[in-house]
Amino acid sequence: MTTTRLTRTFATLAAAVLPFGAGAAEPVQAHLDVTQQPAGPRIEPTVYGHFVEHLGRGVYDGLWVSPESPIPNTRGWRNDVVGALRQVGIPVMRWPGGCYADDYDWRDGIGDPSKRPVRVNRWWGGVESNRVGTHEFMDLVEQLGSEAYMSGNMGSMPPRAMAEWMEYMTADGTSTLAEERRRNGRAKPWSIKYFGIGNESFGCGGHMRPEHQADLHNQYATFLRGQTVRVASGDGEGDDHRVEVLMQRSAKHMDALTLHYYTIPGDWTKKGDATGFDARAWAKTLHGALGIESRLSAITKVMDKHDPARRIGLYVDEWGTWYDTPQGASALYQQNSLRDAMVAALTFNAFHRHTERVKMANIAQMVNVLQAMVLTDGAKMVLTPTYHAFDLYKPFRGATPLAATLEAPRFRTGDIELPAVEASVARAADGSTQLALVNLDPQRPARVATNLKGDARGRVLTAAAVDAHNTFDKPQAVVPAPYAARAGAQGLVLELPPKSIVVVSVGKP
Ligand code: AHR
Repeated sequence: MTTTRLTRTFATLAAAVLPFGAGAAEPVQAHLDVTQQPAGPRIEPTVYGHFVEHLGRGVYDGLWVSPESPIPNTRGWRNDVVGALRQVGIPVMRWPGGCYADDYDWRDGIGDPSKRPVRVNRWWGGVESNRVGTHEFMDLVEQLGSEAYMSGNMGSMPPRAMAEWMEYMTADGTSTLAEERRRNGRAKPWSIKYFGIGNESFGCGGHMRPEHQADLHNQYATFLRGQTVRVASGDGEGDDHRVEVLMQRSAKHMDALTLHYYTIPGDWTKKGDATGFDARAWAKTLHGALGIESRLSAITKVMDKHDPARRIGLYVDEWGTWYDTPQGASALYQQNSLRDAMVAALTFNAFHRHTERVKMANIAQMVNVLQAMVLTDGAKMVLTPTYHAFDLYKPFRGATPLAATLEAPRFRTGDIELPAVEASVARAADGSTQLALVNLDPQRPARVATNLKGDARGRVLTAAAVDAHNTFDKPQAVVPAPYAARAGAQGLVLELPPKSIVVVSVGKP
């Protein structure tokens, strides 16, 4: 038996490990004790944010089809995809990369579309038409009612280019750049709430030593014009030293620092398949997803040392699963199964436990790339299990995490040990208690007894197979189903099917 602290105030109990598959028919017994004490500041809605890169069919085909396309669209953006994204709610979008951002010249993407240069996409192959540039992306931001998080080029352009992009987008009144923007069809300045200064400076952003990156960051941040949250590119390879150096040398010049965290069942040479995987790959993936907790704790510790007032946010602006791309598929295209929804749920729960620092997160990526929300093929579109996980967790946006203790057994698959049940609980703005429970065990149901006194109503996401996924022919294979449980004299008890996510609102007794 182990106790997961949904706050940081409870001690961990010793673990009793169940052999995998033991007593498969019998439910695992878990206990959740919820207090009414806040466990941290509110869950920022931007933790449910997104990442859109010029990569594969992430932008072209997936989101943008051009105004002339027979696929119904609004100024080039697909109505079906935009409609689905509006429904789930997109609080913030990061664009245009990724690695692509540090090779991107914003000037390529403004002015007459027929005159825009065509460039080789250095990182992701193929050519970039620049048909989608700043004006088009900001149109998408407005269609989705989202906020813009622009990712600036620190790797291959001078600071002046970054400064001028911001001035072009945000200057009002007298400015030659604002005039140019007006001539290009946008009278009002845009609000660019977040601005990233470089991406993965440890790698594709320039392979910089942290000290060099810190100096460059300060220089670029100094000249960045306009009101925006200045985001420094942080860790993505488990390197606390970079965080330490950046916090030591650049804290004054940043408002947020990033973390990239990918879940890969194998290694970078053989990452593993998105479907058709075995029990070990299931366990390794979920184990990898749970590993974000220790990265969040380690980075928070370093940040706390230099920023005890917690002014600077931690933005996990790339996270998600990364599998091998099937032969013949577009760059970084992968199927998305129930396993991905589980990864999403476990990751949300971890974010909820770190609200003191984690103020934004952006899943990689929105459409047709990595752990996508939506997949498309020509005019066809399908929503993935990850989309449904985002939808299930909607009531947590803006809610306040509550202190709680979860006691649950652990189970083993080969050498990998996992908790059978994982949870998050929060008080929503309307006063309701929101409870998310994840049963990680692919074979055994779980029974979670709680001290909550009200009835529960919500939805469950599960399927018969661990790699169940939605296809264009069977788009409803993995979709949420209604879920309800009545409180008894001893409190509310929730029955979780194997490999499931249950999110419920618990009423007052
Ligand atoms: O999301 C794909 C790539 O992963 C991004 O471009 C890069 O930042 C990261 O390495």
